Amino acid sequence: MARGGAPLALPLLLPLLPLVGAGAPWGIGAWHCSFSASCECDFRPDLSGLDCDLALNLFGQPLARQLIMEGLKPFVQDGDPAKPLVMSFHGWTGTGKTYVSSLVVRYLFRNGLRSPYVHRFSPVVHFPHLEQLEKYKADLKNWIQGNLTDCSRSVFLFDEMDKMHPGLIDVIIPFLGPSWVVFGTNYRKAIFIFISNAGGEQINQIALDFWRARKDREEISLKDLETSVLEAVFQTPQSGFWKSGIIAQGLVDVLVPFLPLKPHHVRQCATKELASQGLRPHPEAIQAIADGISYFPEEEKVFSSTGCKTVASRVPFYL
Ligand SMILES: Nc1ncnc2c1ncn2[C@@H]1O[C@H](COP(=O)(O)OP(=O)(O)O)[C@@H](O)[C@H]1O
Ligand SMILES: [Mg+2]
Repeated sequence: MARGGAPLALPLLLPLLPLVGAGAPWGIGAWHCSFSASCECDFRPDLSGLDCDLALNLFGQPLARQLIMEGLKPFVQDGDPAKPLVMSFHGWTGTGKTYVSSLVVRYLFRNGLRSPYVHRFSPVVHFPHLEQLEKYKADLKNWIQGNLTDCSRSVFLFDEMDKMHPGLIDVIIPFLGPSWVVFGTNYRKAIFIFISNAGGEQINQIALDFWRARKDREEISLKDLETSVLEAVFQTPQSGFWKSGIIAQGLVDVLVPFLPLKPHHVRQCATKELASQGLRPHPEAIQAIADGISYFPEEEKVFSSTGCKTVASRVPFYL
């Protein structure tokens, strides 16, 4: 295992450059940042701002909002956390997972997603070829180690985990536990966020059961979902976490289920989208956008099949 302080970062990162490509979201961090464990880089958490934004702009996900805030608050306020914060977002497509991850980062770092300390990975972009799996494993490990040496308050976002080759993500296990401190660098200040559609079907089924039992979706708690989501991601080969030590060793601190969205949430998304494009939110246009989306189950049409994902692209057709 590579050991070393400041000089380690540069040689470790260089081999990764051809993989990264121009304009990739995981641009090189600022080398000039202090290498001390107290380095906070451009980490400027504004958690009340985040909570407010989530309350106003995230529709139909009270559980996700609550879990994210409860996970972030103690961690961000702790100058010497016991382990890195590991959050895993799960849910059906278009329910707001990527959107929320962008909001979280925006309120944690002064430069948001453009911060050199925010590293976003997308398997189809960064790890496309199965035959290069061993190289990806080495690159990913080196990348994380190098960047955590550069800034301990870094965020690593793994989007679309369900498209990740099985086995790849386990290479970062050493960074997720409580004991990874190298030469004064406190690796335990890092935040890891995994995003995945895996577990979405289970979440949808439970949300549907609640609906059929005439219970409010607000009554759905983590307890109702946790076991089936974890089982599904661990046992599904296409989850990115298939038989993963990250799940088996309980390294996920905050499991965040995203519920399927109902027609009125889709209408809220449409209203917001029209307003953001400077258009008047005509009720007919909003209804037409919501009507253009398919809902499941076939009979009852309770939840949107694509969440709010296609709302923005539909707006021009209903003006
Ligand atoms: N719960 C939600 N509240 C508000 N907007 C949402 C929500 N879910 C999705 N959206 C909108 O739909 C777009 C696509 O959602 P996204 O976060 O990419 O979905 P996914 O869960 O598949 O990552 C977002 O950019 C956002 O504008
Ligand atoms: Mg997404």
